[in-house]
Amino acid sequence: MNANTFGHSLSITTFGESHGQAIGVVIDGLESGFTIDTEHLKEQMDRRRPGKNPLGTSRDESDEVTILSGVFEGKTTGAPLAIIIENKHHRSEDYSQISRLFRPGHADYTWHKKFGIRDWRGGGRSSGRETAARVAAGAIAMQILNAKGIEIIAYCIQIGNIIATKRDLHVIRLHPAQAPDEEAAIKMEIEINEAKKACDSIGGIVECLVTGVPAGLGEPVFDKLEALLAHAILSIGATKGIEFGEGFKAASMRGSQHNDQMDDSGFLSNHAGGINGGISNGQPILFRTAVKPTASISLPQKTLDISGNIRDIVVEGRHDPCICPRIVPVVEAMTALTILDTWYRWYGRNGA
Ligand SMILES: Cc1cc2nc3c(=O)[nH]c(=O)nc-3n(C[C@H](O)[C@H](O)[C@H](O)COP(=O)(O)O)c2cc1C
Repeated sequence: MNANTFGHSLSITTFGESHGQAIGVVIDGLESGFTIDTEHLKEQMDRRRPGKNPLGTSRDESDEVTILSGVFEGKTTGAPLAIIIENKHHRSEDYSQISRLFRPGHADYTWHKKFGIRDWRGGGRSSGRETAARVAAGAIAMQILNAKGIEIIAYCIQIGNIIATKRDLHVIRLHPAQAPDEEAAIKMEIEINEAKKACDSIGGIVECLVTGVPAGLGEPVFDKLEALLAHAILSIGATKGIEFGEGFKAASMRGSQHNDQMDDSGFLSNHAGGINGGISNGQPILFRTAVKPTASISLPQKTLDISGNIRDIVVEGRHDPCICPRIVPVVEAMTALTILDTWYRWYGRNGA
């Protein structure tokens, strides 16, 4: 298996399985002399960690981060920064009944076909747990970006058919649904709990806003900023699509409606979502990602076992009825890693 590494001038390599001893990440290419804010790092981990959000799985991991290298006297040294997060609250016996069955919608069948062996305990490496390592790395990238005046915030704008119509960013963390609209957040919570009661799951849309990005990040041909962000976001399990600015709505617009005109005060609109020609234009970057309903549901479904026999399956275990609220910090993390990577490519590590 390859491609466990993401990034160019700044890269992360993640390792570990959901029910193994630990998961972790090696961050390579960080600038030196940066003081890591461990409180902020813990806060980001808590936003993703299972057991913390009442709308998520009941697996209760402490997700304590241990930094093994790359930091001296609280500051990054520029050497590889390795982090491990121990797995403490796993219950592999919950998964034994599906060790020979392919869960519909999950990665079991494709992993079996590709590798001939899979760690079925909690989904192994295809588990959402792998993203804890990304959040740890992303939190450090985000702190470095914050110091450069760049802010990244993600939030749920849709769960099932409930759509947030407001963008009150200060209310996002007040409700477990992580929506920027209090009224919608309460309805989203009900929607998720109803899906859970029905032994089913539900999907949604997460939006991400990046402010303070200077014009000039992203490479204009194959490494367009949109392409890099799409790679980052679509590498998160359960994401099924991404759109920038007006996104798919642009297909039904005229050029006169979609173009962002300019005068001497700058751009007069932001239909492009902050990127033209693959390069940031200095406006806020705005994108949305569609998140599918969680594959693991406890309704009876049809599937095959590894010998090819038709079987019924009811997926037991502790699963998120909706992945959206927990994916929010993962989207922020992957965005931070991508933006900081493009920054280092353009300005250098310890430069401007
Ligand atoms: C934070 C997070 C939590 C997740 N929790 C679950 C879960 O509880 N149950 C599940 O079946 N899938 C969960 N997933 C999604 C699976 O990892 C994903 O569906 C699976 O790897 C198959 O990949 P695909 O959906 O991209 O095809 C989670 C993903 C993330 C990012």
